[in-house]
Amino acid sequence: MEHVVVVNHPLVQDKLTRCRQKETEPWKFRELVEEITALMLYEATRDMPLKEIQLETPVSGTTGRVISGPQPVFIAVLRAGLGMLTGALRMFPNAKAGHIGLYRDHETFEPVEYYCKLPHGVEQGECFLLEPMLATGGSAAHAIVALKKRGVRRIKLLSLIASPEGLHTLRHNHPEVQIFLTAIDEKLNDKAYIVPGLGDAGDRLFGTE
Ligand code: URA
Repeated sequence: MEHVVVVNHPLVQDKLTRCRQKETEPWKFRELVEEITALMLYEATRDMPLKEIQLETPVSGTTGRVISGPQPVFIAVLRAGLGMLTGALRMFPNAKAGHIGLYRDHETFEPVEYYCKLPHGVEQGECFLLEPMLATGGSAAHAIVALKKRGVRRIKLLSLIASPEGLHTLRHNHPEVQIFLTAIDEKLNDKAYIVPGLGDAGDRLFGTE
């Protein structure tokens, strides 16, 4: 298993670039984030088990394969993870979703949890944590601890962009969590924003500033 997968498919990279552009308006930004998430899931769910079923096409009987086992569970880190959740639920309409609310303390940049609602049975399926920006890595690491406390053992993290620092924090604290990204950027600035990044993902999604 590759621990860090950067999805370099041209479709994903094209959409990521349009997300980065500051002229991209919130409605378009939301659409792009949803599409990127759906395409990332194509990679991140490659190892899902399949089972054979018998079916009838209009022409004949045949055998087909469908995803077996429990549905994945998507966990959105509020608020920016909501943008990815829409794309994820479009791919898996029967999946359940959880929400973890964290904000960054403006002085320490440490995550503070203000909300956590996870579906019953969350520990039975594979959890996909949706956090678009892996900046310091603090929020994602905190969310993973919250999931582990609830007994979740199988966790994958989906982020659009990581900083080298954030990636290091995650790999160090949760080495068993596989991370899917579309880019690893240069650095964090002194406000803990990813450079070049795409700005504040929540603001870009919802038009707040
Ligand atoms: N969160 C964001 O939305 N953007 C960053 O660059 C860092 C954290």
